[in-house]
Amino acid sequence: CGIVGYVGARPAVPVLVEGLHRLEYRGYDSAGVAVPRRGRIAVTKVAGRVRDLRDRLDLPGAATTGIGHTRWATHGEPNDRNAHPHLDASGRVAVVHNGIIENAEQLRARLSADGVALASDTDTEALAHLIAASLGDGPLEDAVRTALRHVEGTYGLVVLDRTRPDELVVARNGSPIVLGVGEGEMFVASDVAALVHHTQRVVFLDDGEVATVKAGEYRTSTLDATTTTRTPTTVDLESGSYGLDGHPDFMRKEMAEQPEAVRRALRGRLDTRFATAHLGGLDLDPVALRSVRRVKFLGCGSAYYAGQIGAGLVESLARIPADAEPASEFRYRNPVVDPDTLYVAVSQSGETLDTLAAVQELRRKGGRVIGAVNVVGSAIARECGSGVFLHAGPEISVASTKAVTTMGVSFAMLALLLGRVRDLSAAAGARVVAGLQALPERIEAALALDDEIAGIASRYASARHMFFLGRVSGWPVAREGAQKLKEVSYVHAEAYQAAELKHGPIALIDKDMPSVVIVPDDDIVVKNVSTMEQIRARGGPVIAVTTVDLPAGVADEVVRVPRGEAVLDPLVLGIPLQLLAYHTAAALGRDIDKPRNLAKSVTVE
Ligand code: G6P
Repeated sequence: CGIVGYVGARPAVPVLVEGLHRLEYRGYDSAGVAVPRRGRIAVTKVAGRVRDLRDRLDLPGAATTGIGHTRWATHGEPNDRNAHPHLDASGRVAVVHNGIIENAEQLRARLSADGVALASDTDTEALAHLIAASLGDGPLEDAVRTALRHVEGTYGLVVLDRTRPDELVVARNGSPIVLGVGEGEMFVASDVAALVHHTQRVVFLDDGEVATVKAGEYRTSTLDATTTTRTPTTVDLESGSYGLDGHPDFMRKEMAEQPEAVRRALRGRLDTRFATAHLGGLDLDPVALRSVRRVKFLGCGSAYYAGQIGAGLVESLARIPADAEPASEFRYRNPVVDPDTLYVAVSQSGETLDTLAAVQELRRKGGRVIGAVNVVGSAIARECGSGVFLHAGPEISVASTKAVTTMGVSFAMLALLLGRVRDLSAAAGARVVAGLQALPERIEAALALDDEIAGIASRYASARHMFFLGRVSGWPVAREGAQKLKEVSYVHAEAYQAAELKHGPIALIDKDMPSVVIVPDDDIVVKNVSTMEQIRARGGPVIAVTTVDLPAGVADEVVRVPRGEAVLDPLVLGIPLQLLAYHTAAALGRDIDKPRNLAKSVTVE
């Protein structure tokens, strides 16, 4: 979900609506704003998009303070009632909240027993009532502190009190809150994307911090009222823009940015002299690197599949066992934490709660964990303390593209580094370095297949199901390709290890079941060719995505991307699959940047 707040001299509502537009990728089930108006709080909220909210609002309005929210539903279905902001019974206090209150049921039951009429099904509403009940003559932040003592769970929240229309109180525990410091005005957001075009001077709150924000000042303290000192930092905009810059949507823009994102991810990190990589953020010297006996990648969704690509790279270049696991599974199965394993927490946003919880569990048990994160200053980056930043630049599209590609690039460098302190030869290392340097051009060439892939997408868009098949290094590519297609086009896609097809799922093959077969430049091309023949023999259409020359007639469609350093093929072969998902979604008229039911970062369990 996304949070915005404003205190200043301008009309607040247009600032809030604009900020919500920029945060909409974080959730778009419902949206709302609250502003002080003539001694009360006026709340406008709707199920639907920010544009539906804007249509209901009287712009610009007189208020110069306000809060807003765009929601990804957890408690209660997405309807007007459950949209944020939430008011207490007397209408004095309005709250917007990200995260999840774990003891919401008890709090709501207690409030009901005390005679409070609950107006929604949400956990957030309980917060509004609790804060209002704690309000005395003292500062609003004292009431917020008192209320939060009864709360278990995670939150990033902003509170508005109608009797103090010139201030906001914010608090953070597990869900990010950032303050933007302007000239005589202050911004609050859950994500810098909402405020960077107003100010680049920002303050990231820590977990357990509370702040009172006024037009010309802010004060931070801990939950037990100890003052903290926070000087603003300047966010770096060099690494990309938060706007569409002439592209029709963010997915298209971010796919196109991949060559540049990869160049940024590689910059200053390749060492041609010693044929290795420098990853300064790792904080691991050669002795520590050599003591790593196993590598485990943890992430969710696309980050998990990227981790699986990383595991393949580590095994082939460093010859140490490596695997990937969904962070959520890892944290819940009481894992054996091995001191000789290097754990890699993979996350674009750095906020995914399941991944963060896995990191916390690892640290509690003494595991060595590094981050592979895109967003600097995010919760996972800070919790890990060391790692590799992806430098993909801001990623807004819900379907991840450039972040996934830069994850793969980072893991290739990690694998190279781990290999070069073991028995990877200088010559082999040099080939990987050269392969990485050539990667941006290979990606450009893959992106240039756009028209061809749009044609394929239009021919197959009517399929209700598709297989994505790959072996070994092609298998995680197939999984990510299937994920992308599901996310943006809603076509059911199932990824399978190519050799397993004949052990069951081949029963599904017929003329209406196309298979996308990933064929990297490896030792098992002939095996993949026979998979394609098996499918075609049963009348199934085949779309091959490959870096090699395939025998004529083996597939109905062949997407051929340029050959290069073969070990890096998984990074290049993902690009046509992004384009396939994109064009299929476009052919089906889907809302590409805001697929139904999804949100960019899932900060709940
Ligand atoms: C959500 C998104 C996915 C994403 C996953 C992990 O589920 O919908 O597209 O891959 O979170 O996100 P992260 O920010 O941790 O990489």
